[in-house]
Amino acid sequence: MDLYEYQAKDLFAAHGVPVLPGDVADTPEKARAIAEELGSTVVIKAQVKTGGRGKAGGVKLADNADDAQVKAEGILGLDIKGHITRKVLVTVASDIAEEYYFSFLLDRANRTFLAMASAEGGMDIEQLAVERPEALAKIPVNAIEGVDLAKAQEIVAAAKIPAVVADQAADVIVKLWEAFVGEDATLVEVNPLVRDPQDKIIALDGKVTLDENAGFRHPAHADLVDQEAEDPLEAAAKAKDLNYVKLDGEVGIIGNGAGLVMSTLDVVAYAGEKHKGVKPANFLDIGGGASAEVMANGLHIILNDPAVKSVFVNVFGGITACDAVANGIVAALEILGDEATKPLVVRLDGNNVEEGRRILAEANHPLVTVVDTMDNAADKAAELAAAGV
Ligand SMILES: Nc1ncnc2c1ncn2[C@@H]1O[C@H](COP(=O)(O)OP(=O)(O)O)[C@@H](O)[C@H]1O
Ligand SMILES: [Mg+2]
Repeated sequence: MDLYEYQAKDLFAAHGVPVLPGDVADTPEKARAIAEELGSTVVIKAQVKTGGRGKAGGVKLADNADDAQVKAEGILGLDIKGHITRKVLVTVASDIAEEYYFSFLLDRANRTFLAMASAEGGMDIEQLAVERPEALAKIPVNAIEGVDLAKAQEIVAAAKIPAVVADQAADVIVKLWEAFVGEDATLVEVNPLVRDPQDKIIALDGKVTLDENAGFRHPAHADLVDQEAEDPLEAAAKAKDLNYVKLDGEVGIIGNGAGLVMSTLDVVAYAGEKHKGVKPANFLDIGGGASAEVMANGLHIILNDPAVKSVFVNVFGGITACDAVANGIVAALEILGDEATKPLVVRLDGNNVEEGRRILAEANHPLVTVVDTMDNAADKAAELAAAGV
């Protein structure tokens, strides 16, 4: 789960990382009130989960409360790379002597954590990494050893952060590490980490990604979910513990096992090229033990997606054999009753496949077409979806 900048900064503050005071507003009037309270020059910052807000006109200085209201009015509603701004952070404006870059991330390829730091922050770090890779220090961090003051000093030196703020920067890096580990984050990024004219180090921006698999250790993280921005189908799926991701096509997909579902998306997208360009409408992995109830929950979510014109159920019988899955599909259609209105293409293979197909044939449900191979089933599902668009 990605956090908004204001949430990232709250989290930083809780771990002792220096940030500037501020608050979020969803109306220009509230922005004005916050600016009045802060009583200084402020910065109005679009709260969207994407970078490059500054360049997109989503970060503006305001001299006083009146100005804050005007600037907030301009930024609220702004489309930044497809993200509509619904909230702004109103925060104290800082004078900036220098901008640095800092991040901790999970380096999956090398199976380690990685610290990245540079004395040349502020701008697009991706661009710096390509154009002047020597200016971006990359230091692996051993998960067991972590980051103590000595390690932080090593990072600061590699990044060529000036000596006058080196100790302070190292101290902030240790705290960022505590935030990273303590909150089970997979990314903590500060760009820019600034030195102000009084040589104080401050995190002026913050980007944090939390590991949702560790959510059980952090009940408070649930409050960070932006309910309004959540896709209603994804929220409904989450409530049923389903592994569902909404996509923008017309063919609903249900499969067991993430790998099978991923390749189902590919074959459906490929088949769709011949059928009006229809595409997969979602990712849904119902896992190994596909009981009738789980199948019904999955179908319920997919059939409630108005974009869906056909559904492709692609199951490989393993521990849960095909006959159990077939019974699950029949029972799910019974549970759903009139709600089931869209054609279903079912491809079963694997353990007990003959019996599974026999059960579906015997049920002879008017909406269900059984197709033997994955490619042919994808083609049929795409054809049926194309007929419905
Ligand atoms: N509180 C602030 N005071 C002064 N300048 C700021 C403040 N916050 C951001 N800036 C300036 O705006 C730039 C962009 O803001 P930032 O928060 O990094 O957004 P983004 O990375 O999305 O562009 C920063 O590099 C910094 O120069
Ligand atoms: Mg930034």
